[in-house]
Amino acid sequence: MMPGGKNVGSFTDIHSHMLSGVDDGAHDDNEMFLMLDMAYKTGTRRICLTPHFNPEIWGDNNQKFEDAFARLSEYTAKNYPDMSLYTGNEICYSQSSIGQLNRRECKTLNGGKHVLVDFHPGESYCAIRSALLDLMGYGYIPVLAHAERYECITSTLDELHELNWLGVVIQLSASSLIGRRGEPLRKKTFKILKKGLADVVASDAHNITTRPPCLDGAAKILSKLCGENCAALLLRINPDKILGL
Ligand SMILES: [Fe+2]
Repeated sequence: MMPGGKNVGSFTDIHSHMLSGVDDGAHDDNEMFLMLDMAYKTGTRRICLTPHFNPEIWGDNNQKFEDAFARLSEYTAKNYPDMSLYTGNEICYSQSSIGQLNRRECKTLNGGKHVLVDFHPGESYCAIRSALLDLMGYGYIPVLAHAERYECITSTLDELHELNWLGVVIQLSASSLIGRRGEPLRKKTFKILKKGLADVVASDAHNITTRPPCLDGAAKILSKLCGENCAALLLRINPDKILGL
């Protein structure tokens, strides 16, 4: 039986820093392959690789992305033929982001309309809302990465309600849900889930120790908290839709 339970099935992870040498994720190919092994063993069968896109910090990492993706694809095809990989980016939003997206200098999720986007932790709600609306105005569908971490949209949840209503996709991190990031964030993540404001739970994996590529723990908690159908929605059905599968 899959780790997610019979009604949850396998998982689709739309937020992963597994590619080696591209950002602050896997440092080398050995770590990248170990991360893939771990993801497979814990029930993930579809992964969208989403290195940070922020030229000010990471430079132009597109070639490194392509090279690491080719190496990971080869390893995956050889060892796990039923695992599928897709490309994307986690875009650190700036004034340049829309131009970069339009010129395809950075990647949407699996080449569709969804864009995984994050902001500086101290950004105001007004700035976040305006940026997300700008993206939508250009035909993109923003997926707000680890939404639980922004104090400005989670203190009362009114702002999160509004973003949800506007059509922003809300992604929570498995690490917050299972309590790896501390009790306050775990409680906040539960609150968001209980209000029905989350669309996706993803790993945001960076390594095999502190930020692993595992969704099985989140599946167990989600199944208890809101039922197996809800767990399936957040870990497989919605992420598959986002990737256009
Ligand atoms: Fe991330």
